[in-house]
Amino acid sequence: MTLLIWTVLGYLLGSVPFGIVITRAMGLGDLRQIGSGNIGATNVLRTGSKPAALATLILDSGKGAIAVLLARWLSGDDSAAQLAGLAAMMGHCFPVWLGFRGGKGMATFLGTMLALAWPVGLLCCATWAVAFAISRISSVGALAAVASAAPWTLVLGRTDLTITSLILTFVVLYRHKENIARLRAGTEPRVGKKS
Ligand code: G3P
Repeated sequence: MTLLIWTVLGYLLGSVPFGIVITRAMGLGDLRQIGSGNIGATNVLRTGSKPAALATLILDSGKGAIAVLLARWLSGDDSAAQLAGLAAMMGHCFPVWLGFRGGKGMATFLGTMLALAWPVGLLCCATWAVAFAISRISSVGALAAVASAAPWTLVLGRTDLTITSLILTFVVLYRHKENIARLRAGTEPRVGKKS
């Protein structure tokens, strides 16, 4: 029963589409009609507002982290924390309010991993930073970071998180299928360039 409650709460928290809320509140237009049409921080940046993109990044990662930390703190159960993080990711990527067409999950993934095990989360952030610095393409950073998650759990001896991180990785990979197609076609835009 408790696990079900944390799953529902995690999903509801994750399903808040901060990118849309922030861009609407700041009068930056309809995010769905801009750039990739995604609701994440990378696409919010394409509105031209760095503060809006930063706020989206913080809030989208924060909701994953808060779902995990709340579940762990109030239930004292690590399985509840992992379930809440997984549910927050599902809420972000498939929110009921947007007809299950949500974001790609990168920021929420990082927040969730940081809260589940900060050393693993930090190494995922570092992997994102290195891949992005080399490519200047946001999705390349995202794909590298999520692909590195399960290996980092093994390196750091956090095998209790390997299955969860693999599921999170596949969700993010699935939500990036259009980016992967554009990368293969050589048409994925670099950050700072018009898409
Ligand atoms: O995290 C999202 C990013 O990897 C890709 O975003 O808007 O370029 O599809 P976008």
